[in-house]
Amino acid sequence: MDPLFTPLRLRNVELRNRLGLPAMSTYQAAPGSLPAPRWHLPHYQTRSVGMGLVLVEATAVAPEGLATPDDLGLWNDTQAQALTQIAEVITAQGAVPGLQLSHAGRKAARTRPWGDGADAALAETDGGWTPLGPSPLAFADGYSTPAEMTPAQIKRAVTQFAAAATRAACAGFRVVELHAGHGRLLHSFLPPLANHRTDAYGGDFAGRTLLLRQTVRAVRAALPDELPLIVRMSCCDFLPGGWTLDDTVRLVPLLAADGADLIDCTSGGIARPEPRPTGPCWQAPYAATIRHRTGVPTAAVGKITTLGQARDLLADGTCDLVLMGRQLLVDPMLPARHAHDLAPAPYRRALATTAAAGDGHLPPEL
Ligand SMILES: Cc1cc2nc3c(=O)[nH]c(=O)nc-3n(C[C@H](O)[C@H](O)[C@H](O)COP(=O)(O)O)c2cc1C
Repeated sequence: MDPLFTPLRLRNVELRNRLGLPAMSTYQAAPGSLPAPRWHLPHYQTRSVGMGLVLVEATAVAPEGLATPDDLGLWNDTQAQALTQIAEVITAQGAVPGLQLSHAGRKAARTRPWGDGADAALAETDGGWTPLGPSPLAFADGYSTPAEMTPAQIKRAVTQFAAAATRAACAGFRVVELHAGHGRLLHSFLPPLANHRTDAYGGDFAGRTLLLRQTVRAVRAALPDELPLIVRMSCCDFLPGGWTLDDTVRLVPLLAADGADLIDCTSGGIARPEPRPTGPCWQAPYAATIRHRTGVPTAAVGKITTLGQARDLLADGTCDLVLMGRQLLVDPMLPARHAHDLAPAPYRRALATTAAAGDGHLPPEL
């Protein structure tokens, strides 16, 4: 049996295969942090063909958690209603719709990463605000120094994640992923490098992990029992004073007890400059280590570009799910080209004939 095209059950949700699209911001939201139907619906519909799971891009749980004004948001019912359509187009293709909930923390209030004035602190005249973080420490040069969150603000963030999870389930999403990686709020509390607090949310391991654990518990309580919760973690930071793979191995069983069903294993993003390794499947060893040392299911992600690589990672026990990002942005028909029955009916004949003729040849006319 092909390990890639084997279903994966998480709680009461079955993914038809082990291939997922990771959350990838497209920075195309309409005013009000709403989906732009002409962008988001075709984008996600196309990228659901043949997929087991489609995780919709980082969606802010509060206005101050927007990384950019072009991100999606989910702190009101209008947004939830609009997101329903994205969940519908994903479901209609046979994939399971998932939503990534995010608070950008000290990396909030930026411009999007391309175009004029790209990747800069958002000026107050353009609607900018002071971002929030565990401590008044900027992510890097050119980033705003965040305001140190009060305990009341921290508790409010937990509530915002839980409220957004409730709305995500109501909107038809059947998987929720918490973004606790890439230096965003939930990640930024974990390493001493970014968290200098001396209260209950800082100091030792228990203190620095408290926000993430409280959030996982609150989101778990907000979600229906049958829906799985994924936590995306930066498994290591590559920097002195940063979070380590051993820290992740120590925390993951606690998160699983708190209600996390699968760990999506990414890395880095806590500070710059960052000595970051790279290469084909380069983060997969994190997924393998966590899976083997904790017994908690994992997803591997990062420069996985062929179905053969994905199959090998599943066959050798590295992970339970493979996420393929940039490759599927540019080549969304990849899974269906290899499993024609997963394609919508109007494409199947073309797929069969192009495969018979060899890639790059047009199918015969009807
Ligand atoms: C354009 C772009 C947008 C991204 N947006 C997000 C995001 O919203 N949330 C997130 O957790 N990661 C985000 N990522 C990281 C991807 O989810 C993924 O982990 C990364 O691209 C590595 O996988 P790949 O090599 O298959 O692309 C983004 C990456 C890119 C290239």
